[in-house]
Amino acid sequence: MQKDRIRWNEKYKNKETSCSEVSGIVRQFYSSAAKGRALDIAAGTGTNSLFLAEQGFSVDAVDISDIALKRFAGKHPKLYPICADLDTFDIPGNRYSLIINIRFLNRRLFPYIREGLVPGGILIFETYLEGPGQDYCQSSCRDYLLRGNELLHSFLSLKILFYQETKEASRNENEFHIASLAAMKC
Ligand SMILES: C[S@@+](CC[C@H](N)C(=O)[O-])C[C@H]1O[C@@H](n2cnc3c(N)ncnc32)[C@H](O)[C@@H]1O
Repeated sequence: MQKDRIRWNEKYKNKETSCSEVSGIVRQFYSSAAKGRALDIAAGTGTNSLFLAEQGFSVDAVDISDIALKRFAGKHPKLYPICADLDTFDIPGNRYSLIINIRFLNRRLFPYIREGLVPGGILIFETYLEGPGQDYCQSSCRDYLLRGNELLHSFLSLKILFYQETKEASRNENEFHIASLAAMKC
């Protein structure tokens, strides 16, 4: 959506908006996947994508923000930034040995994610969850939050390797809830 591009480009114009650390769940489970093609859904400034490229994956890094993608374009020969709107982007079927989706939610993609994995392929998915602290959140904001157990139920056709729902503290000490899943397509 055009308004997502404008909103996120505004954030990324601020040089401080980036994720400097590789996601813990990516570090924990990436090696369960055979080396091959990986897809990073909503890659942002590419920290996880670059990590995976360095581990030997060919990484398609999709995001709507051209400013975020420019931050890591050219940093690795196996890293392919793709500027696209995930509201309409189609994940090719039977293509990826690893798909990661970190701190982003678009439910439309769920069936494409399942189809996009090759047999034996690994999904690593972690994002925000509805929680008691989010009562201020309007319904539009809730579209970006998982319900309890929703992530688990959405990928039950895969073999679940790991699932948890936890509470974490952010940098400004607010609490937020996240759901984390690692699963394999059999
Ligand atoms: C919270 S950031 C997460 C970035 C990265 N996955 C990480 O964990 O560091 C969410 C990302 O989703 C991207 N995004 C938001 N709406 C999008 C859309 N409709 N299509 C593609 N990317 C989108 C934003 O540009 C932003 O980079």
